[in-house]
Amino acid sequence: MRLVLLGPPGAGKGTQAGVLKEKLGIPHISTGDMLREAVKEKTEAGLTVKSYMDKGDLVPDELVTRIVAERVVKNDAKNGFLLDGFPRNTKQGRELEDKMRSLGIGLDAVLYFNTKEETVIERLTGRRVCTVCGMIFHIKNMPPKVEGICDACDGKLIQREDDKIETIKNRIRIYTEKTEPLLAFYKEKGLLKEVSGDLDVDSLFKELMDLFKRERLIQQG
Ligand code: AP5
Repeated sequence: MRLVLLGPPGAGKGTQAGVLKEKLGIPHISTGDMLREAVKEKTEAGLTVKSYMDKGDLVPDELVTRIVAERVVKNDAKNGFLLDGFPRNTKQGRELEDKMRSLGIGLDAVLYFNTKEETVIERLTGRRVCTVCGMIFHIKNMPPKVEGICDACDGKLIQREDDKIETIKNRIRIYTEKTEPLLAFYKEKGLLKEVSGDLDVDSLFKELMDLFKRERLIQQG
């Protein structure tokens, strides 16, 4: 199954992708994670994108499109993938379409996590991520067993640089301006499937599973 996860920052795309990848047996391809990894490793791409990401601006299209094009052809993505954070504007949407056409494949669905702004702000200001394995927590909704420490690997939990309130507001503005037009882009293609991002983690996962069954993307039962 080839899916795109679309929605505002903090809608819970990464959290659901973490569960879905196990359930569906396909990789979670997050451009945000790949770019943060490049920043951490101080690669050439990492040095270029850091200032954009810290401000909550989109990084240049060419760079992120190249990263995705190289990633979707890897062996583990042969039977499908969960694309999270890409495309981010209609130019990227068209480039993804071209790349997939050249590979003779297509998207099965675009999952739109429709989420209220107040939910987004509450989630992002409380988010903590593991510096070692990347696992996502929330100080109230999904607290770690021991404060500041990852349940999975004992790594240190930190607040993302772009999860400060002023940067969050810029990310929401950019989402509305640049990414929301993709809703019409994919609706026209009959690929857009909406779920409520305001639901708690388990209810949202159930809604996604029901959707997959309804759309016959997975077997009933
Ligand atoms: P990226 O990492 O993609 O950030 P984002 O889209 O803003 O998404 P987030 O990771 O913030 O949110 P999420 O929806 O995954 O929420 P999560 O599950 O973590 O991008 C970062 C930056 O990289 C961009 O600003 C840009 O600079 C650059 N970039 C990336 N892709 C790019 C592209 N294609 N083009 C150009 N630039 C690009 O959940 C959030 C919190 O809520 C967590 O604390 C979680 O525990 C909690 N939570 C999650 N679900 C629930 C729930 N259902 N109920 C209660 N709490 C929940």
